[in-house]
Amino acid sequence: MLVVGLQGSPRRKGNSRFLLDTFLKATASFGAETRLVEVDRCNILPCKEYTVCEKKGYCPIDDDMPAEIYGLIRRADVVVAATPVFFYNMSAQLKGLIDRCQTFWARKYRMRWRDPRLKTKKGYLLSVAATRGNNLFDAIHLTMQYFYDAIDADYAGHLTYRGIEGPKDMARHATVGEDVQRAVAGLLSPLADRKRLLIVGPSGTCATQIAAALVRSKAGERFDVRVGANRPGAHVNDHAVKAMAARGWDIAYEVPVATEQAMDQWRPDLVLGVGPAADALPDVGGAIIRWDLSAALPDSLDDATRLCDVIDEKAAVLVH
Ligand SMILES: Cc1cc2nc3c(=O)[nH]c(=O)nc-3n(C[C@H](O)[C@H](O)[C@H](O)COP(=O)(O)O)c2cc1C
Repeated sequence: MLVVGLQGSPRRKGNSRFLLDTFLKATASFGAETRLVEVDRCNILPCKEYTVCEKKGYCPIDDDMPAEIYGLIRRADVVVAATPVFFYNMSAQLKGLIDRCQTFWARKYRMRWRDPRLKTKKGYLLSVAATRGNNLFDAIHLTMQYFYDAIDADYAGHLTYRGIEGPKDMARHATVGEDVQRAVAGLLSPLADRKRLLIVGPSGTCATQIAAALVRSKAGERFDVRVGANRPGAHVNDHAVKAMAARGWDIAYEVPVATEQAMDQWRPDLVLGVGPAADALPDVGGAIIRWDLSAALPDSLDDATRLCDVIDEKAAVLVH
């Protein structure tokens, strides 16, 4: 389970950062892997409305969005954004990142490619403001609702605090620790209770990624899925990405990792070996099943489409 925190304040040791750190630490105690994105330190250019994303599904601007952040957002189970209120809205830094997520809006609504984690993907907001007006967070909630919709996440909740101004005000708040614990427990308990399925293959670039996406899309509320590779390839197979896109699933941002890395602080209940029967599987003491598939990567879209068909049937039986 990956939790990605977007730290939207330019203050490096201020209130949003304190809230986000507290939140991420609480998610780690539920077994989540956490990643912090210091948005102010990233190289993120504003959207230039080139509209390439609307026609082709990707953004041509070469900065930290394609280099790292699109992938983190796609692979996250939970995205949590933290921001101070600046003139009744979020920081410009965070808004800049969100505007660039028009790419995900286009992938969803123009290209019709969905995030396979959509059944369980969650978005959360942490925000602070110096004053106490009734409508302080209204604009931020509206933007968050549309941001989380674009990335196929459910806007699951928020913690917002008024009367927070000096950089240490949040740390001195009387109930913040309990507030965060309660929020994180509500958010993560259903995800942490899922059956842990490790899918292992030779390179983690094709059949394993197709299988993971199809299991997530069919039964993500019951299976916490990770992919491990015996010899991780550099990137997901292009034919597999296209064949899955034709079915409406976006696997372009998956990254093959070694099995040991996939199992870091995470023990599967079930191991699924995908590929040649002789390929090694980790001995985790749990149940093991195998799908005996060829290790050869598809060399055409038709090949990849046939592979998706085979895996789709097997995935349906697995999650039944
Ligand atoms: C440019 C700017 C605009 C701000 N606008 C508002 C505002 O509209 N309403 C408000 O209550 N506080 C406003 N504040 C105060 C911040 O929201 C507040 O100090 C917050 O605690 C800062 O959080 P941080 O430490 O995470 O940066 C503003 C602060 C700055 C620097």
